[in-house]
Amino acid sequence: MIELRDIKKIYQLGGEEVHALDGVSLVIEDREFVAVVGASGSGKSTLMNIIGCLDTPDEGAYFIDGQDVSDLSEHDQSIMRNRKIGFIFQQFNLLPKLTAYENVELPLIYQGVSSAERKERVTEALKRVGLENRMWHRPNQLSGGQQQRVAVARALVTRPALILADEPTGNLDSHSTGEIMELLKELHRAGNTLVLITHDDEIASEAPRRVRLFDGKVVADMRSDARKADGSSGTDFDGNAVADRNMKAAPAPVMRSGPGGGSPGGGSAGTVSGPGEESFIPEEDPEEVTDGR
Ligand SMILES: Nc1ncnc2c1ncn2[C@@H]1O[C@H](COP(=O)(O)OP(=O)(O)OP(=O)(O)O)[C@@H](O)[C@H]1O
Ligand SMILES: [Mg+2]
Repeated sequence: MIELRDIKKIYQLGGEEVHALDGVSLVIEDREFVAVVGASGSGKSTLMNIIGCLDTPDEGAYFIDGQDVSDLSEHDQSIMRNRKIGFIFQQFNLLPKLTAYENVELPLIYQGVSSAERKERVTEALKRVGLENRMWHRPNQLSGGQQQRVAVARALVTRPALILADEPTGNLDSHSTGEIMELLKELHRAGNTLVLITHDDEIASEAPRRVRLFDGKVVADMRSDARKADGSSGTDFDGNAVADRNMKAAPAPVMRSGPGGGSPGGGSAGTVSGPGEESFIPEEDPEEVTDGR
């Protein structure tokens, strides 16, 4: 569970203050799928950076599983990022000289996972995103959609409690967008907590909960309840009644959906595990790990 309490982030720019986040309070429960939606400049990436412990707020408090993140050392925050959070970015952020396999393997090397286990988990993650035939390609030998699937595999290979995706489909055509959204929804069904950042209402409508940012403030927090008989989901932030967009969302192309939405390859290695009950701060020191490659 993550909780933001009255988070503020203020940038100083040319003698002017930019209130990128202006008192954001938000609770996201384990296994939720939340879209954070808002116009350019509304504070979405600033929020994602704070949730992902890539940046610290100027005011307010941020808790992950009850732990006040500001009480953690930089070192412990970086361990947390590596072990608890998977990131997916608009620009894919793959290392260009590494193959798809090596890009996905990297976070496991940082974690000190044995090479035998790495092989099993990397192969499984790439299978899960439908790229078992592209493992030895470098990013420039892959399409945009394929590169983002590598990035999804890299985010899920560590079995993170939380996956953060900032405009993951921003650079993709509509077909690849459908594939990536289907993958993200599959991860959610498999028990992952997912925060999806987007400026696009249609993309956001795929999430059962939508949080709308405007000028650094949360102005709407809407949940669809698929079980509701009338199919309505409340009002938008202008107070207009809105239909449940989830009900009309076109089915995206299905890829690599294993039986029962679980692991396609079967076996424990293929399971994208849910948050689990592990302790929040990992015991091992990733910096002591030797690079086995
Ligand atoms: N490093 C910075 N220095 C100064 N101002 C910044 C900085 N980073 C962000 N801002 C400002 O903070 C506000 C929020 O920016 P943020 O990047 O969070 O928006 P966003 O919602 O992610 O937008 P986009 O959809 O364009 O990615 C904007 O007004 C932006 O100009
Ligand atoms: Mg942004």
